[in-house]
Amino acid sequence: MYSLIYVSTVADGADEASVDAISKVAAKNNSLAGVTGMLAYNGQHFMQLLEGRRDVIDELIETIARDTRHRDMAIIRREDKTSRECPDWSMRIFVVPRAKAGSAQELTESLPEEFRPETKMLFTSFGSMVRDNSGELE
Ligand SMILES: Cc1cc2nc3c(=O)[nH]c(=O)nc-3n(C[C@H](O)[C@H](O)[C@H](O)COP(=O)(O)O)c2cc1C
Repeated sequence: MYSLIYVSTVADGADEASVDAISKVAAKNNSLAGVTGMLAYNGQHFMQLLEGRRDVIDELIETIARDTRHRDMAIIRREDKTSRECPDWSMRIFVVPRAKAGSAQELTESLPEEFRPETKMLFTSFGSMVRDNSGELE
């Protein structure tokens, strides 16, 4: 079992409709490929956890890196591991709500219980970047 986490910046013109489209394709492809994970989106950035067979994840990350709906991908963690942190989701999507206090709390509470503390920390920090109504991060 192999897993990685990256962050990236949403491309101009991509929005929540793109995230919807990505989530549909990801749910279908990932369940066929035995890939699980979570994708968080806050209006400007993505953070995604991908886990599965190493060859499958290596190939998928290359495909995702070429996707023009985002740019500036930075892989922040890669590791071999013995169990999944997101066993029940082919791709769990979390869209950080606009201008809503408590969104980090909401994200944290919705994280799978299998998440390790440092994985929780990464997604919670991401979710604490609350957007104002223009979509800008505060
Ligand atoms: C932020 C982001 C996350 C994505 N995550 C996945 C994913 O988990 N699984 C997947 O199959 N495609 C994902 N995609 C889409 C791929 O880049 C690509 O469009 C898709 O795999 C192509 O599928 P198709 O060959 O069935 O058309 C993601 C794209 C973006 C921009």
